[in-house]
Amino acid sequence: MSITFTLNGALRSLPAETPPAMTMLDWLRAAGLTGTKEGCAEGDCGACTVVIEAPDGARQPVNACLMTLGQAHGLAIRTVEGLAGTDGAPHPVQAAMLAAEATQCGFCTPGIVMSLYAHARMGGDPHEALAGNLCRCTGYRPILDAAAALPAANEAPPAYPAPDGTAFGPTEHRFFLPRSLDEALALRRAHPGAWLLAGGTDLGLRFSEHRENPAAIICLRDVAQLRGIEPGPEGISVGAAEPYAALLDHMESDAAFAAFAGLLRRLGSRQIRAMGTLGGNLGTASPIGDALPPLLALGARVSLAGPDGARDLAVEDFLLGYRRNALRADEVIARVFIPRPAPGAIFAAEKLSRRHDQDISAIGLSLLLERDGDMITRARIAHGGCGPMAARAPEAEAVLAGGPFTEAQARAAGDALARAISPMDDLRGSAEYRRAAVRNLLLRLYWRVAQPEAAAEIMAMATPHAPRFIAP
Ligand SMILES: Cc1cc2nc3c(=O)[nH]c(=O)nc-3n(C[C@H](O)[C@H](O)[C@H](O)COP(=O)(O)OP(=O)(O)OC[C@H]3O[C@@H](n4cnc5c(N)ncnc54)[C@H](O)[C@@H]3O)c2cc1C
Ligand code: FES
Ligand code: FES
Repeated sequence: MSITFTLNGALRSLPAETPPAMTMLDWLRAAGLTGTKEGCAEGDCGACTVVIEAPDGARQPVNACLMTLGQAHGLAIRTVEGLAGTDGAPHPVQAAMLAAEATQCGFCTPGIVMSLYAHARMGGDPHEALAGNLCRCTGYRPILDAAAALPAANEAPPAYPAPDGTAFGPTEHRFFLPRSLDEALALRRAHPGAWLLAGGTDLGLRFSEHRENPAAIICLRDVAQLRGIEPGPEGISVGAAEPYAALLDHMESDAAFAAFAGLLRRLGSRQIRAMGTLGGNLGTASPIGDALPPLLALGARVSLAGPDGARDLAVEDFLLGYRRNALRADEVIARVFIPRPAPGAIFAAEKLSRRHDQDISAIGLSLLLERDGDMITRARIAHGGCGPMAARAPEAEAVLAGGPFTEAQARAAGDALARAISPMDDLRGSAEYRRAAVRNLLLRLYWRVAQPEAAAEIMAMATPHAPRFIAP
C-alpha cells in the first residue's frame, strides 16, 4: 500500500519503498518544495510549518520536522508553494504580509505565512497563532499588523483522499495505522519492539534529530476507541490519541475546566497542540509534563487496554518514576477520565517556564480545594518539575485541609511543599529557584482566589498574555 495524501490540492501516492518514518520536511525539500525551511528540527522554531486542511475547512498548522510521512496518510497538506493563485497572484495572507512590510528574513517568513494562513480560518488570539514561529530579527510588530489585516478565509477545502490501507513501507521499516483497538493490540503482540506513536511531538525528535528508523511503528491516530471527547456530569472522558487542540476547544467551553484550558493554551504552540496528545504526555511520564499536575490534582484516571481487557488506574498509580509508568508491553493507554471539580471547589493550575509560550514547564503546580463554606474539606495539590516525577504533595495538602484558605495557611502550605520536594538543578532552573518558586506559586494561587481583580492586574503587567485563572 502507498502512503497517499493531497498536497497543495493534488493527490500524491508515494512509491511503496518510501520510508514512512521520513519526516514530511525532508520529503518536501527532497521533492523540490524548499519553501518549507528547516531551522531547529525539533518543533521549536516554526520555520517548517505546513497546514493540515480538514474536510470541514478547519486548518491546523503543524511542524513538518516532527511529522512522519506515515502520519500524513489520508490527510490534505498545504505548503507555502500552494498558496499563490494559478495566475501567480499572492494569496491574501502573502499580500497582507507585503503590505505590512512584515517579510523579514526569508528563513522564518514561509512558516509565519503558513501559521497566518491557518489563523485566517481558525481565528483567536494572533499572538497565540504566532507563538510557534520564532523571529529573532526585528520582532513581531509588523507581522501582527499583517495578522490584524487578514481577510477572513473562505476558500473551499481541497478534495480529500479516501484513506485506504493500514500498513506501509518496506518490510524492514513498517508503519501501521490500525483503525480499531483490537487491531492495535494485535499489532502490539505481533511486533513487540514497535514504537507506539500518537502525535509524535516527543517521539518525533527521534526521527528528526536523532535520525532513528525503527523496524515498526504503530500509529494510534486512527484508532476509533482512542479518539473523541465525551463529557458527562461526573467528568470528561478523553481519548488518549485525541489532539490537545480538540481538548482545549472543549475545555474552553466548560467553565469547570477553564483553568485546565488556560494551561493547555500554553502547552507548546498551535503546531504542537494540533498533534500532541494526553496519551503522549502520560506515555512520556516526564517530570515536567504540563498535563500531569492538573490530572493528579483532579484525581484523573487512565484506562489501559490490553489483550485481557481494560484496567483502570489513578494517574498517581500510573506514574512510577522518572519517565516510568505502569503501562505493560502489550497495552495501550486508551482513555483518560478527568473528574469535574465539585460545585464551589477551587481548581487552579499554574506553570512557570523560561518563555511564556512554546516552552515546557520548569515548574507546574495544580490545586483542588473542596470547600464547605469557608472551610477546606479536602485539598489535592500536585507538582511537576520538583522531583523525578510529577506527584501529589501530601504534606502541603495536610496543612490546608480542615481550615479556611488564609494567607497564613497558604504560606505554611508553601513552606511544607518546599521542604518536601527534591527538585533537580538543570537548565530550566536551579533546585534553589524551584523551591522558592513553588512556595511563591502557592501564595500566588491564594491571592488569585482572595483578590482575583488585583492579582489579574499584576499578572497583566508582568506578562501581557498571562494564563487565565478562573476562581469558582
Ligand atoms: C516544541 C515543543 C514544545 C513542547 N512543549 C510542551 C509543553 O509546553 N508542555 C508539555 O507538557 N509538553 C511539551 N512538549 C512535549 C510533547 O508535546 C508532549 O509531551 C505531548 O503530550 C506528547 O504527545 P504526543 O501525542 O505527541 O506523543 P508521542 O510523541 O507520539 O509519544 C510520546 C510517548 O508516549 C507514548 N504514547 C503515546 N500515546 C500513547 C498511548 N495511547 N498509549 C501508550 N503509549 C503512548 C509513545 O510511545 C511515546 O513513548 C513539547 C514538545 C515540543 C517538540
Ligand atoms: S524546523 Fe524548527 S520547528 Fe521544524
Ligand atoms: S523573520 Fe527570520 S529572524 Fe525574524
